[in-house]
Amino acid sequence: MRPYRCTNCRGSLSSEETSWRCDDCGGQVSLYKERFPVFYSLASLATQDASLKENLYDGMLGRFYSFLMPFLSLPVRPFARSVGQWLLYVIVMLLLATGYTSGIQVIAGGSPGVPGTLFILAAIILTVLAIRNPMFGWLLVLAVPLKLNHLLSNFRPENTFIDVHQRTIEKLAAIDHKLKVLDVSTGTCNSLLRHGWLSLNAEYFGIDLSETMLEQGSSNCADAGASVSLALADACDLPFEDAYFDIVLNYGAINGYSDVRGALSEMYRVLKPGGTIVLYDEQLYQGANLLENLYFRKVLSPHDVISECPVDSIPEGATYELHQVYPYYFLCIIKKTIVSNNEILVNDLGD
Ligand SMILES: C[S@@+](CC[C@H](N)C(=O)[O-])C[C@H]1O[C@@H](n2cnc3c(N)ncnc32)[C@H](O)[C@@H]1O
Repeated sequence: MRPYRCTNCRGSLSSEETSWRCDDCGGQVSLYKERFPVFYSLASLATQDASLKENLYDGMLGRFYSFLMPFLSLPVRPFARSVGQWLLYVIVMLLLATGYTSGIQVIAGGSPGVPGTLFILAAIILTVLAIRNPMFGWLLVLAVPLKLNHLLSNFRPENTFIDVHQRTIEKLAAIDHKLKVLDVSTGTCNSLLRHGWLSLNAEYFGIDLSETMLEQGSSNCADAGASVSLALADACDLPFEDAYFDIVLNYGAINGYSDVRGALSEMYRVLKPGGTIVLYDEQLYQGANLLENLYFRKVLSPHDVISECPVDSIPEGATYELHQVYPYYFLCIIKKTIVSNNEILVNDLGD
């Protein structure tokens, strides 16, 4: 049976020719390009969510996500894994420098010639792009000083991103039934396909608001030979029944939602008792300097509603462990409590 539920009444859905229909309230679920069920309407989205979708993830960042996302983390990624991005950075800076120099020559009465005119044009286009997308403008300014700062930084995580993942996945792999995994805001499915989640004996689901991102996710899953059911849905109104999933993942998205508490309570609702939520998003480490603060606010998190792990929004009764795994990112593992006869059976992460 289909796991999806009507977002109006949680009724089950039956197939019609080009859409699905709720058996209880009669509500229709359309199919985007006959592939992804669509569980929200633009009109029903909060302004922040609609703006993120339209301006960021359906825009330039979304279309070139796999290249531009690592580009934004240029100063903090290992050099060997960002050679292409550094190359782009150098080309952009050279174009800007040559364009501005030619522009100054023109102002001083010189003639730029054809190459000079082209450089001026390129510099104008890049400047307009940087002004329209200020995080890229700030990145151009901050990349080199921040790279040097990063090389000298003495930030060392108590628990690394890889260690926390390994521990979590090992525990989940020991469960003897077939698991159900939901990746909320799966985007390009990048995080679902990495970090070891596919090693589990599990059925996989992913939802996202952006068609641009989900189309890339679908093709990335096909390339990886991974079977993932994808749908267009709002994290704040998940189209699933209660207590359906063993694991709910959320990478790089929670801090940007208009209603962080509502989204977390939705993830908790669809989670089985004893199930696990994994959150990963921006959070600046304690003791960061001015440059790191500037990079964090202007480049990594300008679109966020909150800028740290939303521990205050974790549903009551849940237990969690929070790790500052990178200078700019946290990883939080949340466990849903099992209560039986008013007795808590799982109350910590060491069960
Ligand atoms: C930074 S991307 C992260 C994608 C993916 N999880 C990853 O780690 O690569 C954030 C994603 O959140 C999605 N998103 C933003 N607001 C959302 C919402 N309210 N409901 C569902 N998805 C949302 C965006 O469309 C985008 O794909």
